[in-house]
Amino acid sequence: MATNVDSIADSMSVAPASVIKGEWSLPGDKSIAHRAAILCGLAHGESTLRGYPKSEDCLNTLQAVQRLGAEVEVGEVITVRGVGGRYRAAAGALNLGNSGTGLRLLTGVLAGHAHTNELTGDASLRSRPMARIRDPLEQMGATIELLGDGGTAPIRVTGGGLRGIDYDMPMASAQVKSAVLLAGLFAEGATTVMEPYPTRDHTERLLGRMGCPVRVEGHRVSLVGQGAPLKSQSLAIPGDFSSAAFWITIAAATPDAELRLRGVGLNPRRVALMDILRRMGAKIDVRCTDDGWESVGDIHVRGGTLKGTDTGGAEIPNVIDELPLVAVAGALAEGKTTIRDAAELRVKETDRLDAMATNLTAVGVAVEVFEDGMCVQGGASIAGGVAVDSFGDHRIAMAMAVLALRGSSPLTINNVACVDTSYPEFWTDLEHATGKA
Ligand code: S3P
Repeated sequence: MATNVDSIADSMSVAPASVIKGEWSLPGDKSIAHRAAILCGLAHGESTLRGYPKSEDCLNTLQAVQRLGAEVEVGEVITVRGVGGRYRAAAGALNLGNSGTGLRLLTGVLAGHAHTNELTGDASLRSRPMARIRDPLEQMGATIELLGDGGTAPIRVTGGGLRGIDYDMPMASAQVKSAVLLAGLFAEGATTVMEPYPTRDHTERLLGRMGCPVRVEGHRVSLVGQGAPLKSQSLAIPGDFSSAAFWITIAAATPDAELRLRGVGLNPRRVALMDILRRMGAKIDVRCTDDGWESVGDIHVRGGTLKGTDTGGAEIPNVIDELPLVAVAGALAEGKTTIRDAAELRVKETDRLDAMATNLTAVGVAVEVFEDGMCVQGGASIAGGVAVDSFGDHRIAMAMAVLALRGSSPLTINNVACVDTSYPEFWTDLEHATGKA
């Protein structure tokens, strides 16, 4: 049978598909996996992580905690023997690849350690803003040197002797919140972060499970660390909603599509894409199968015709990684779709507002870009026979690949190796979704 994707060097040609269907499970959630590796690495005793994603980013974080002294065995199940409270200094720089989560969270942890470490990443990560973690961590007493141009990585962190702070976070960022809370584990007194809008709470949930409860009162999130011993864990990492999102979006926007995705993480701070798609008219049913530490369940999508909608405000942090897909849904819907309050997209792996606007324009979709969002005019036919670029950003590559399934002829997506940083199974899953595998 012909496949739906054709790989040429670092490009993929994705052909239109007449039907989207299937049933499968997603690889593990990356946000949870980074936190599990970092915190189980710090814990007392041996932890096991089932369903840990084998993406480059998540493997880089595991390797970093290993270099900081944890014992890690990578197999079907990952085993982490924790250092029992304090990491040792790593010899040489820790390379977190493409992952802002790995870099920012580990910097927070190492701010609590009385030694010096250097952390770095790939060219994309070295272009992203790091003053947002330096400022609160320095207020707590760490020395954070940003060795790149204009407040970027490499980061040299010299920690220890921290005191808790009350931090009014200027942006809604789970990475910044987590970096401060993780430093707070080692600080004297209480550490509090005030969020402008609630962001994903995987750090809080995992810390609570490991024996360091986090108090949440409205938008205030606090912990009292004082070197509380973290208990080892046996964790099953839920499937990644952000990976499921590609298939949910394209199925919802394709008449006669039908998809069942099993074992997907349903943390309420992650799933706003489903609210947005439902407002657009999508038929999505969810069945929660486990409501423990993190909710997990099955998602059933039936395709149909969508209409445009607006998103902004408090909804944005809960759909932050899926906003390129809101633009894709908008392109396939009737009427206009507007995204506002999403200036954070400009400092992701690439400037995702400009990247999506450039690519949608290339396939014939009318787009207006704002400083904090975009307006997508739906209803045009999606032109094939052209080439678009990922701009080195995995989510842009995958968003354009699913949009190509609704094109008029094959679309070439250049610069797709980045997909492996987060979702190496993506192209196989695309073949599943189009009935080719
Ligand atoms: C993440 C938080 C978000 C998100 C990123 C993962 C996390 O970043 O975009 O992919 O795991 O905490 P910000 O906190 O910078 O918004």
